[in-house]
This record gives sequence, structure tokens and C-alpha cells, in this order.
Amino acid sequence: MAINRAFIFLGPPGAGKGTQAKRIAKLCGVPHLSTGDMMRDAVSRGTDLGKVVGPIMQRGELVSDELVMKMIEERLAQPDCAAGCLFDGFPRTLPQSEGLDRILESKGFGKPVVVDLSVGEEKLLRRLTGRRTCGVGGEIYNVYDAPPKVDGICDNDGGKLVQRADDTAEVVKQRLAAYDRATKPLTEYYRRQGVLHVVDASASMDEVSRALGEIVKRAEGRNGHL
Ligand code: AP5
Repeated sequence: MAINRAFIFLGPPGAGKGTQAKRIAKLCGVPHLSTGDMMRDAVSRGTDLGKVVGPIMQRGELVSDELVMKMIEERLAQPDCAAGCLFDGFPRTLPQSEGLDRILESKGFGKPVVVDLSVGEEKLLRRLTGRRTCGVGGEIYNVYDAPPKVDGICDNDGGKLVQRADDTAEVVKQRLAAYDRATKPLTEYYRRQGVLHVVDASASMDEVSRALGEIVKRAEGRNGHL
């Protein structure tokens, strides 16, 4: 069922945005739009965009609002986004939030449903350094908390699991600092609009999915479907 609404997952690096966005987007039947994934794809294909954003991501800094908004506008113009989408890792700055508000209004969408996935720093470090991602289908694992059945191999498609280049302790520090400086203030921006939900994302993956499912269900005024 189409939902004609945008969902936004906020939260620090390693909070579980990508893990949960895959599940919830599937549940809602909307595309999962991860600006990080889009940029990593551009880097691996060696496009002009990839050549610009690769070094910035490698330093753990934020890519410019101008580039991010251009990428998002192009993606949202595709037909699969007509009825809604789930943003993961976007918006990340106040100008991105304001830009997205304008786009959503022009598309006739309602107010977004925004969820802040909240987790303490100690857990984030464990999650990020333990993360492994399938190089084929993008499935996310964790060597500590969600390992594959066979070490280094994706359960779904047999792809090789790789560690992200920006998951080193040094780069993670920069990413967390960028989050505190530029992205954390967005929770207040959305709280003032009355659209913010906060979920304790330090709980197990299934518990977090359940909490998110409830929020989505309430937002859509539906029961039993999700
Ligand atoms: P991006 O790819 O968006 O990375 P991020 O925000 O730093 O978030 P992560 O992908 O690291 O974490 P996540 O919350 O998705 O966690 P995950 O589900 O994987 O951005 C990367 C870079 O791109 C940025 O630094 C920037 O340079 C650039 N960029 C992207 N978007 C931008 C924008 N809008 N503006 C400017 N620049 C932008 O989970 C992490 C691990 O934890 C996994 O191993 C998982 O298995 C495990 N895990 C998840 N949930 C649980 C749980 N409940 N219990 C136990 N383990 C769990």
C-alpha cells in the first residue's frame, strides 16, 4: 500500500539507521534512500561525483549541502518515489532539512515522520568497528552481535563481506564530531514541528524494529497491516 509520506531516520553513525531502514522500507513498500550508499556507489563506480565525495567521506567529514541536495532531487524525481520514501542519513544539516521541507511541500507530501535512533557512544564504537557489509547485496552484519553463518560470507547471496573504509577508530571520531555539530540540532528542528519520535536504539534489532513498526503504523492510522 502506498503511503504518500516521507520517513526520516536520524541518529549517530552506527545507531542502526541502515539496518532498520532496510526492514521498515520493505514493510512500508517504499524505496530506502541512503545518501551514504548512493555516494559509496558513486565512489566504487569512479564517477565524477565519486571522485569528489570519496576523500571527504574518508576523512569523516560531511559532503556539501549543494551536492547532497542535487543528488536527492534527482533521486526523488524517479517514479518509485512518487508515493513516499524512507531517508537514511539525510538530512544531516539544517539547510538540508529546510531544502527537504520545500521539496516535500512541492510534491504535496504531508509532514515527514521523523525518528531519532538514540544510542550511547560506547555501543556505537562497538557496532561500527564490528560492522561488515556484503559487497554484492549490501546486507549489514556485525562480527560481535549479528555475525554471518560462515565467517566473511553473506548468508543471502554468498558475497564477500567487507569493512567500510570510514569505520576506523580515527575516522569514526570525526564522524561522531560531525554528527554532534551539524546533525544533532535537527532533532530540535523536528521536535518544534511536532513530528519527532525518539526510539531507544540500544535495544536488540528486533525490539527496535517493533518500536519503529508501531510508529509507522500510528503515523498511517492503520492497524494490523504492518
Ligand atoms: P552514512 O553511510 O550515512 O553513515 P552514518 O550516518 O555514519 O551511519 P552508518 O551507516 O555508519 O550507521 P547506521 O546508523 O546506518 O548503522 P548500521 O545499520 O549500519 O554516511 C557516510 C558518509 O557519507 C558521511 O560521513 C558523509 O561523509 C557522507 N554523507 C552521507 N550522507 C550525507 C549527507 N546527507 N550530507 C553530507 N554528507 C553525507 O549498523 C551499524 C552496525 O551495528 C552494524 O554492524 C549492525 O549490524 C549493528 N547493529 C545495528 N542495530 C543493532 C542493534 N539494535 N543491536 C546490535 N547491533 C546492531
